[in-house]
Amino acid sequence: MKGKDLLSIADLNSEDIPLLISRAVEMKNEGWTTSLSEKVLALVFEKPSLRTRVSFEIAMRQLGGYAIYLSPAEVGLGKRESVADVARVLSRYVNAIAARTFSHQTLEVLARYADVPVINALSDIEHPCQALADLLTIYEKKGELEGLTLAYVGDGNNVAHSLMLASARVGIRFRIASPIGYKVRDDLLELARSYAMDSGAEIMCTEDPRQAVREADVVYTDVWTSMGQEAESEKRRKAFARYQINGELLSLAEEDAILMHPLPAHHGEEVAEGILNSPQSVAFDQAENRMHLQKALLADMLGGLEIPLMNYE
Ligand code: CP
Ligand code: NVA
Repeated sequence: MKGKDLLSIADLNSEDIPLLISRAVEMKNEGWTTSLSEKVLALVFEKPSLRTRVSFEIAMRQLGGYAIYLSPAEVGLGKRESVADVARVLSRYVNAIAARTFSHQTLEVLARYADVPVINALSDIEHPCQALADLLTIYEKKGELEGLTLAYVGDGNNVAHSLMLASARVGIRFRIASPIGYKVRDDLLELARSYAMDSGAEIMCTEDPRQAVREADVVYTDVWTSMGQEAESEKRRKAFARYQINGELLSLAEEDAILMHPLPAHHGEEVAEGILNSPQSVAFDQAENRMHLQKALLADMLGGLEIPLMNYE
């Protein structure tokens, strides 16, 4: 990794992602270890969570350490106390901080003032742990990453940004279909395109979901209204009405295409009722893999890796 923190996929070098995936595959087989004995992770969350909180807590436990969860009401980041002071104080107690914040800038301030590594557990701009676990899931299901085509249909949000950057890093062709006004950020698109030049990936942006999904190996979607955007949900439901993943749209993808969703899902909105329970859906494998990938990440960041490094190819 480039520095001590993982705030963005951009904090990883091109060789980091394959290494993390190979370590996660090994750790998934290995189960429990004591490699992070007595190490402590603080989970500082401004928004609700099921997967991220539980997978980080279990990951630390399985590595011999433990996690302390601090809810939005307890910490009051930037309200009860400045973000810089929270970072300084936590650095005296714990070995790493995983934070879920409304503003990505809050994470940057935490990382600037913390002496210990800070991990982005979701911000308004990125969700890197989700994207890394998703690549692990794709690799497990497809046996490769490079050369695959991934179609993301929906909002150009935090999940889309990290997935686009991670796909571009590993050579996955990334297509995104979003309505006008809900596209990915230009600066991150430009960054992804620069990664794609090196990896051989291609990035395609369209407003047509059918164009994106045609012959794709992976079809991916996320909620139309993310946490913190609830006031816009009616407007968003209208803007995204053409972007639902249903049987008809999915039938345009490769016959053996997998359907992905980071969860939580709004059944009947971005995904048709029942489709996440179909054989093509790997949404629950994605949820499980959050834990395995984060074990590899934590072991690496906190210096407790006991398994030999291996290239995943
Ligand atoms: N996918 C994901 O991050 O889920 P949670 O919001 O439940 O953590
Ligand atoms: N885009 C969603 C992802 C949740 C895991 C959100 O930010 O709410």
